[in-house]
Amino acid sequence: MRFGHFDDDAREYVIETPRTPYPWINYLGTEEFFGLLSHTGGGYCFYRDARLRRLTRYRYNNVPTDAGGRYYYVHDGGDFWTPGWAPVKRELDRYECRVGLSYSRITGERNGVRAEVLYFVPLGTNAEVHRVTLKNTRTAAKRVRLFSFVEFCLWDAWDDQTNYQRNLSIGEVEVDGSTIYHKTEYRERRNHYAVYSVNAPVAGFDTDRESFLGPWNGFGEPRAVAEGESRNSVASGWSPIGSHHLAVDLAPDEEKAFVFVLGYLENPVDDKWERPGRVNKKPARELLSRFQTAGQVDTALAALRDYWTGMLSTFTVRSGDERLDRMVNIWNPYQCMVTFNMSRSASYFETGIGRGMGFRDSNQDLLGFVHLVPARARERLLDIAATQKPDGSAYHQYQPLTKQGNNDVGSGFNDDPLWLVSGTAAYVKESGDLSVLKETVPFDNDPKDAAPLFEHLKRSFHHVLQNLGPHGLPLIGRADWNDCLNLNCFSDTPGESFQTTGNRTGRTAESIFIAALFVHIAPDYAALAEAMGFEEEARAAREHAARMGETVLEHGWDGDWFLRAYDFFGKKVGSRECEDGQIFIETQGYCVMAGIGVASGQARKALDSVRDRLETAHGIVLNQPAYEAYHIELGEISSYPPGYKENAGIFCHNNPWVMIAETVVGRGDRALALWRKIAPSCREETSEVHRLEPYAYAQMIAGRDAVRHGEAKNSWLTGTAAWNFVAISQHILGVRPEIGGLRVDPCIGPDVEHFTIVRHCRGAEYRITVTNKATGRPARLVVDDRPIEGTLVPYAPAGRVVTVGCEV
Ligand code: BGC
Ligand code: NOJ
Repeated sequence: MRFGHFDDDAREYVIETPRTPYPWINYLGTEEFFGLLSHTGGGYCFYRDARLRRLTRYRYNNVPTDAGGRYYYVHDGGDFWTPGWAPVKRELDRYECRVGLSYSRITGERNGVRAEVLYFVPLGTNAEVHRVTLKNTRTAAKRVRLFSFVEFCLWDAWDDQTNYQRNLSIGEVEVDGSTIYHKTEYRERRNHYAVYSVNAPVAGFDTDRESFLGPWNGFGEPRAVAEGESRNSVASGWSPIGSHHLAVDLAPDEEKAFVFVLGYLENPVDDKWERPGRVNKKPARELLSRFQTAGQVDTALAALRDYWTGMLSTFTVRSGDERLDRMVNIWNPYQCMVTFNMSRSASYFETGIGRGMGFRDSNQDLLGFVHLVPARARERLLDIAATQKPDGSAYHQYQPLTKQGNNDVGSGFNDDPLWLVSGTAAYVKESGDLSVLKETVPFDNDPKDAAPLFEHLKRSFHHVLQNLGPHGLPLIGRADWNDCLNLNCFSDTPGESFQTTGNRTGRTAESIFIAALFVHIAPDYAALAEAMGFEEEARAAREHAARMGETVLEHGWDGDWFLRAYDFFGKKVGSRECEDGQIFIETQGYCVMAGIGVASGQARKALDSVRDRLETAHGIVLNQPAYEAYHIELGEISSYPPGYKENAGIFCHNNPWVMIAETVVGRGDRALALWRKIAPSCREETSEVHRLEPYAYAQMIAGRDAVRHGEAKNSWLTGTAAWNFVAISQHILGVRPEIGGLRVDPCIGPDVEHFTIVRHCRGAEYRITVTNKATGRPARLVVDDRPIEGTLVPYAPAGRVVTVGCEV
């Protein structure tokens, strides 16, 4: 069952009913100011940091769900409603939410009044613009009253939800005509405030929540709206809000648009006041002057569209399979941008007050983002690298505002350092910018201890070699990619963090996953070393990798698949000898990606085992059998009920590893089939089962052991976005930048017979036409009408257009 449809020409998903199984959201903002917006108008916005600079309040885990938003109420002759249906939930004659790239447009119609609200954050602007268009669709004139509503957050979203003894006494606002200023704590150390304004005279306003709602009412029944009359309240403590009241006369068929701006402003510390007690409003006036007319809004929206058109043109495919094309051309890169901007901070599953930027997460996010804006990826890489410790290990997370490693979580996730090599290699391949390797980057943000970026990579690589266990495999530390496989944790205390508890310090628990990751990145590492002129290091790296590959085959092979790990006691994890957890997905995917066992046929065998034991109709589960009981020696993984999260859930992040692995062994049909199982556009038809947005990947789909098999959770902020983009664009469609050229090596199976790709890379444009007979690789390439040897298209100078014909 669908709840909407894709409009590919408009690059929109059109939600046709507000009664989706869960709030379906979108992200506004591309630079520093961001908003989360559900299809009913719920959500919140913030400036840069979702915890510390939260502009509006939102209630996670509320009943009903999705409480708090930027609401526009229509009062029409005693009747009142909201165009997004919620929060009033009065039946609408028509409803639609168009989810676009960094904007949403919600339209509701009732009793001859149509209200359309367009929400977006203009480029270069620290504000949301909401354009509300009211139309009288009947033949008689009408007077309607429009009420706006936002509830301000007192900036630090954590404190806002916990420190009521203070917070209920500090709220302050100023009202100046149609403009409401939220200035809580501005009197003391803050030099920033929020503004909420409309470009028309108001008939009234409210800034005190209870005055607007009435003391016993929720957002669905505000007293001011029901009565059609504002209280003109000025908040003093309690909960400051912003609400405008506009009296709007509409002739038959007449339409009127109003522009609301909700923004964040800062003043210099020594220029905070206009006069004693009155905020310096200069920057706010400047902001508002930019959005006074419908024309200004149109121009800003057009600029946002152009921005996306430009970015998305980097990689486009026409395959005749619209589900594939819309993911590759629109929604997957869009999500990659969102994850790059948000990391794991703010979604409907991440509260914006918790996790910092993950070392491994950020490097992986970059893999799907780097082609969109390489310069921003470069900046991010240097930030991440600066948190690395001198011994090559890494803080697991760092804080986005301070960019310092986070001591609460600390380090010891032994896969972390290697992801820096992956991220850097991806950047260099995309951009050709080798100078990044020579950038001076501190260790642990200590300017006195700095070295070229390449030295960081070297320490990452050698950190693995310095931390090998009894079988010569890498020590796992607290965990590897699978945060929940905690082999040194041994936690018996309820509530204790599996991420930080380490009750055993023995150097025994080993990870075959880290071994595979090491072998996988080694060729890139060696190539970067060569680019630096370190031939000896490159040669040694290749040897280490070859040896590690052999070690995996010797100690990491279980007969039909790759083992997952050795635990603290040296017992196998992910082996037929185990009672539960006999086979894990991660090592099957990554070992094959690394080329381990390909020549011997073990790779295929491992992937066959995945197919036979882990694959379901909804994707590949992480392990089987699921852990039924808590295993103190394995940690968090066994704390989840069977079928959820890392305990045999379908972890959409690692499914693409198997897709890529299938292309390594030449089974493009399998790769594409696996892609289709989890691609949101392909799950649209079963949205009642999947339940989350059909235009964004979720981190997890409940596995076959789960009661709710097939149901997705944790949409949007997940490494799934980047990895699926890498799998489909670089390995299945097969176009990927390498250091020496653009590889064109499709492996997609017979289903898609013909496709064209336009790829912009390093300033040149490659027009690639693929005739796919699935007759086997290597592909035959014709570049600018001349056949070439192999599948690597040499990079052309910037500005050139290169045509590539490919037959495979
Ligand atoms: C989740 C993991 C996540 C980890 C770190 C765990 O509870 O299951 O998916 O990586 O927390 O936040
Ligand atoms: C989510 C985390 O953000 C990521 O770093 C981790 O690899 C996966 N969960 C798997 O545990």
